[in-house]
Amino acid sequence: MRTHYCGALTSESVDQTVTLCGWVDRRRDHGGVIFIDLRDKEGIVQVVFDPDVEKSFTTADSVRSEYVLKITGRVRARDAATVNSEMKTGEIEVLGKEIEVLNAAETPPFQLDSFTDVGEETRLKYRYLDIRRQQIQDKLVLRSKITSKVRQCLEAEGFLDVETPMLTRETPEGARDYLVPSRTHEGKFFALPQSPQLFKQLLMVGGMDRYYQIARCFRDEDLRADRQPEFTQIDLEASFVDQDDIMQITETMIRTLFKEVLSVDLPELPKMTYEEAVRRFGIDRPDLRNPLELVDIKDLLVDVEFKVFSGPANDSKGRVAAIKVPGGSEKLTRKQIDEYTKFVGIYGAKGLAYIKVNDMSDLENGLQSPIVKFLPTEARQGILERVGAENGDLIFFGADKAKVVNESLAALRVKLGEDLDLLTHEWAPLWVVDFPMFEEDGKGGLTPLHHPFTSPSCTPEALLEAPEEALSVAYDMVLNGTELGGGSIRIHNQEMQQAVFKVLNINEDEQQEKFGFLLDALKYGAPPHGGLAFGLDRIVMLMTGAQSIRDVIAFPKTQTAACVMTDAPSKVSTHHLNELNIKLRQKEKVQ
Ligand code: AMO
Ligand code: AMP
Repeated sequence: MRTHYCGALTSESVDQTVTLCGWVDRRRDHGGVIFIDLRDKEGIVQVVFDPDVEKSFTTADSVRSEYVLKITGRVRARDAATVNSEMKTGEIEVLGKEIEVLNAAETPPFQLDSFTDVGEETRLKYRYLDIRRQQIQDKLVLRSKITSKVRQCLEAEGFLDVETPMLTRETPEGARDYLVPSRTHEGKFFALPQSPQLFKQLLMVGGMDRYYQIARCFRDEDLRADRQPEFTQIDLEASFVDQDDIMQITETMIRTLFKEVLSVDLPELPKMTYEEAVRRFGIDRPDLRNPLELVDIKDLLVDVEFKVFSGPANDSKGRVAAIKVPGGSEKLTRKQIDEYTKFVGIYGAKGLAYIKVNDMSDLENGLQSPIVKFLPTEARQGILERVGAENGDLIFFGADKAKVVNESLAALRVKLGEDLDLLTHEWAPLWVVDFPMFEEDGKGGLTPLHHPFTSPSCTPEALLEAPEEALSVAYDMVLNGTELGGGSIRIHNQEMQQAVFKVLNINEDEQQEKFGFLLDALKYGAPPHGGLAFGLDRIVMLMTGAQSIRDVIAFPKTQTAACVMTDAPSKVSTHHLNELNIKLRQKEKVQ
């Protein structure tokens, strides 16, 4: 249909006759001459219609924004005065001869330019129009470049692309499963995979040696800016490898992506233990661009009378920590501090004590704070020394169960970093290693921190003896405070796998029922193996500077896990439900 793309025309085509197809970006009438900015995926070119070609001129006059046109004309250089240096094709224009309206368009529900301020819901409802915008196109193009590079990198390392089932059974990755009813097996359900975890392990047992897949995963969980119910992993697994092998392969891949797609040399990835990350940053995915740190002061407050501090200081599960904000005494107003106090409340903190350090040499009158009067001089002195305070600093405090202090101060640290513009560099990747094998599930039991197929670093006996102390051979790659990917060396013998199930209170019958196929496979010569999965959407989000992973997915779901364009999920007919032997319960009437 066409000879050239609009946005790819250059001065080299001057004097050539070209045929272009695309959408009307803008149509302007300039005293008897009509200008049409014609747009396709490569960009925009200006087409001019003079009244002397009467039929075409009349058609050109009738078109409106987003009409689909086919135009034939001659490329000509623009006068020096009309060259548009802002435009890729700004040195030329096309003198239109023939014009055909391939399709008309109604006025779009929102402006298709970079300045559109329409709400996200409307953009998602008309996502096919939103995708016409350059910003979205650029992101999808970059996403495709990334997946293509990933395939190249992994295939060069001998990884083979193998597809695994979408209709399967539950995979314990910590979220709720999406279920699919079976018509042929009455009352039974498939689950959509939360990840290909067990299948990739079984491929290793099958001798495939190195597997990868750009795999769709499904998780019914609370959504956030970096979580979708349906998302994509770069999933990989290899046999006869240790933790360092997997870290090296995947680090090289990420480094290559950044270099070849963004021309960025990522800095070295430091390794930090989970314990250190939580101690210094309150979280296992610290943003190392932010210089603020949590400092433990529990030991200094054991004997003070101020219960807010001494309570958690004397509780084995408590934590008392401080964050020093250099120069914060001047920078932060009372109003801002009140706002931060409200903010940490979201994470369960009951307050946010602070000290403004006005004059370090005067511990009686030089410290401005609602709590300092409750603290003896030695505690004041101890805190200032521990955090390395200087005059003009502000110190925030969190005191509660460790979980509350960690979550609230970790969030406060991020917020202070943004508000006070503290970030020191652009990219800060790291590995977090030595994760605990389990964490408390809040119901008196334990739950795996990664998943139950992760290899503990100890023997099965030691694991059963003190499961809460066991570490695992698991590793996460973190970039700028986002968990890009996580993986582990897996359990490859049955005894260890059963020990883990035992800790998780999964009895032998349930083990057989749910994971019999895995336990069987482990009996038939399973090789040592391990792997990792990256969140592709998160990688693209970070590499494109997008605010949300919704921006880098062609057809994302809303915050409530729905598609406003197709109106999914939707009701189904009674006939269909009958076939599946499903009867919907009547919703109880609210009195
Ligand atoms: P994990 O559950 O850590 O590990 O997931 C791996 C990576 O997938 C991404 N991710 C998500 N991205 C968008 N929306 C979501 N809802 C979502 N959930 C996870 C994250 C995360 O780091 N089978 C293991 C991997 C392994 O052990 O090899 C797994 O799925 O970037
Ligand atoms: P209160 O005794 O509750 O009035 O609190 C006195 C000061 O301590 C106030 O500045 C509170 O914001 C702060 N505060 C209260 N509870 C906590 C807590 N758990 N962690 C940190 N600061 C707190």
